[in-house]
Formats: sequence, structure tokens, C-alpha cells
Amino acid sequence: MSQKYVIGNWKLNPATVSDAAALATSLPANDGCTVGVVPSLVHLSAVKSALADGILLGVQDIAYKTAETGAFTGDVSACQVADIGATFTLVGHSERRQYHGESDEILSAKIANAFTHGLSVIYCIGETKDEYERGETFGVLKNQLAILKAFANQADADIAKLIIAYEPVWAIGTGLTPTFDEIEKTHHFIKDELTAFGMTTPILYGGSVNDKNAPNFAKSDVIDGALVGGASLKTDSFTAIIHAFS
Ligand code: G3H
Repeated sequence: MSQKYVIGNWKLNPATVSDAAALATSLPANDGCTVGVVPSLVHLSAVKSALADGILLGVQDIAYKTAETGAFTGDVSACQVADIGATFTLVGHSERRQYHGESDEILSAKIANAFTHGLSVIYCIGETKDEYERGETFGVLKNQLAILKAFANQADADIAKLIIAYEPVWAIGTGLTPTFDEIEKTHHFIKDELTAFGMTTPILYGGSVNDKNAPNFAKSDVIDGALVGGASLKTDSFTAIIHAFS
């Protein structure tokens, strides 16, 4: 059986460092699948100290202008988060694309910066509701995946640090999901696109994953894990999702 991943994206939650540390402390050590959490940057150190051994720490974003240091007010670099102990970053989450206008150029730079400091990248892609209803899902995904071709010829060590998260925008935080068959077909499409680039990359599903639907997703050979938002803020739900994929 292939390696499975369950990653909790806490987004802009919780409000206090003590609540973030308490949530981190509540998560069980687990060796049945790879587990990671992605807290707010200001909570990174506290969460790292509170996590059980083996749970990975990630960040939601890194600077694109540099991987190091410099005059980039408000940014946090790959170098800085790696120094604190983060081992991966999200890139291209739909909330970053939507609210921060992140272009292909910016996303490519972020991926390159992450690799410079040995960070793994969870590259998020997904179609909007309108695109889904117009039957444009595969075309949208193809365009979003195109930036990865530039990395295909890089060192194997870099490409091995890439994971895709397929997250239909309309499924995020809505309680809606595509059907199981639709998700499997889409994961096959993504896999084929990446194979054409010479890449073998795990593909996670994200969008309203919870303790009820996770066992079904976990049965699939082409769903390599889950990127979980809201349900990752509740210990019981997140623990159940981890168990489903273990
Ligand atoms: O990064 C996580 C996704 O945006 C999914 O969020 O599980 O709250 O739908 P959700």
C-alpha cells in the first residue's frame, strides 16, 4: 500500500497561541500514515514544541521574492521557516490565489524557494463552481499544473518533495464534495498529466473532508491522503481522519 498523508491546514485559526499549543498537544502520535499540521506563522514555534514526535510542521505560505532575507516587509522566507523546524509549505491554496492574486510566476518562485531550503511543497489546485458546472475542470487543472513542468528536470531530490492537493474551490468549507467517482477520475487525470512530465507525485484530496467521508476516500488507490481544513481544528474529527488513512 502506498504512503498516505493527512495534513491539517489550520488557516487563520485559532486566535491565541495557547489555543494553538493546546490543539497541537491534543494530537496523537501516529505511525500509520504521515501526519502534518499547518498553523499560523505566529504560532509556529509554540506548535512545534507541543507536537508529538513524528507529526510534521508546515507553513501556509512563504515569500516569493527571496528564499533568504531582505527588504520585503511582511514576508516570511523559506530560510526562516526551515530554521524554526517547518519541513513543508503549501503553495497555491485557492484562498491565496483568490485573496492575494497569486500568479503562476509567484507560485513558481515560491516552489523554487521552498526547494532551495529543502522544504516539501503541497501544491494546491482546483476549479471553481462555475468552472465545474461548465465542465472545465480538467482544462483548469491542466493550466494550473503547467508550471510544474519547469521543475521536472530538476534534481530527483526536489521532485520527490512535491505533493499535489486537489481541492475543488466549491468544496472548501461548504460541506459539498464531488462524487467519489468524480474525485477518482480527476486524480487519474492529474496523475497522467504529471506522468507526462516524468513525475510520480502523491495526490491528496481536500474540500470538506470529515470523519464521516474520510473512510470512503481512504479506500481509493488514487487518493493518497487528505488536506483537511475545518475538521483539523477538532481533535476528535482530525484523529478519526488520521485513523481512516492509517
Ligand atoms: O486546506 C484545506 C482546504 O481548504 C479544505 O478546507 O476542509 O474546511 O473544506 P475544508
